[in-house]
Amino acid sequence: MGKTIICDTRGIIYQEGVTALIDIGDAEALQELIWQIAKKGMMIAEVGSWMGGTTALLARAVASIEGKVFAIDHWLGTPETWERRVGKSMDVYAYFKGNMVDLGVWDAIHPLVMSSQMASKIFAALILDMVFIDADHSYEAVKQDILGWLPKLKHSGTLCGHDANRPSVIKALDECLGNSYSIMPNSLVWYIHGKPLQEARRRLKDKGGQEAL
Ligand SMILES: C[S@@+](CC[C@H](N)C(=O)[O-])C[C@H]1O[C@@H](n2cnc3c(N)ncnc32)[C@H](O)[C@@H]1O
Repeated sequence: MGKTIICDTRGIIYQEGVTALIDIGDAEALQELIWQIAKKGMMIAEVGSWMGGTTALLARAVASIEGKVFAIDHWLGTPETWERRVGKSMDVYAYFKGNMVDLGVWDAIHPLVMSSQMASKIFAALILDMVFIDADHSYEAVKQDILGWLPKLKHSGTLCGHDANRPSVIKALDECLGNSYSIMPNSLVWYIHGKPLQEARRRLKDKGGQEAL
């Protein structure tokens, strides 16, 4: 605990060397969202962890309440982005793990080194309290992530994600969740829970008979 968070001019956060692909306002919004829904033993799935910037934030928020963060990533970087080049030139997973150990949050993290699609199949239905989606931001991938992970959320759970300003993300959100999702103030963090989540589940079930929605 207690490591410094600095926001540079590009809006990237460094926690003594940990690069997070989320700016300080979004980090604060995500933290606020977890605090709103925190409960003992909380289980979170983070889809897209990279070097662990947001993983550390989530793990810190739940460590003291016996929560766990499943960090899901193939750690290869998103296809057709600069991340893929970095993923080819260094062992990003090893760097992620080192960062989490250095920040003292490793004990609250279960890494799953695999694709989001594979990982979602491991979880039983209705088991997670929160799913944070921040992996491949293409329309198809975000849609697949929402439809793949939504059945794993408890009815009382929260589905959320990053980059609510990208057209591809907005298109997937609108298509899957209609206008039922919200955005944390002054941020790009989207979320849905409570009655709006139940309604979205019902609409998706009526449309396509999704598993355990
Ligand atoms: C935008 S970065 C995550 C950033 C991180 N949440 C943060 O704020 O520091 C996207 C991550 O998603 C991962 N990713 C992309 N597509 C994926 C997939 N289909 N399955 C698992 N991980 C994926 C990439 O390897 C990359 O680490």
